[in-house]
Amino acid sequence: MLHRAPGFNITAIVWGPGDMAKAHNHDTWGLIGVFENEIQETRFRRLDDRSKPGYAELQVKGVLKNRAGMVSCLTPPDDDIHEMENVTDWDTVEIHVYGRDLAGLQRLHFDPAKKTTAFFASPKYDNC
Ligand SMILES: [Fe+2]
Repeated sequence: MLHRAPGFNITAIVWGPGDMAKAHNHDTWGLIGVFENEIQETRFRRLDDRSKPGYAELQVKGVLKNRAGMVSCLTPPDDDIHEMENVTDWDTVEIHVYGRDLAGLQRLHFDPAKKTTAFFASPKYDNC
């Protein structure tokens, strides 16, 4: 289910067991509310000065277990990089609210081990 309007985006998401989204940013504020079950969220701090294209040095800030009733907040530019994974055997249901429409928005994927970044833009909303 997706409600889309200029300037914001509200979506209901279902993560199946094992579903995940590797480290990425959002370039907008976001609220992720867990409605059912739980999601593992790894939050990252970016340490480099963002001046070198294709390079990023990330540090894990924490690995969270966000359970039903909890809300995670994303606040760019310094706190909007995360990785999500359903590590349980059941579906996880969430409500996502973002300050911009993520479809078509150019964002970054990160490989923390290789310290690399790659631009991406989802043609449609894809969970995160
Ligand atoms: Fe995300």
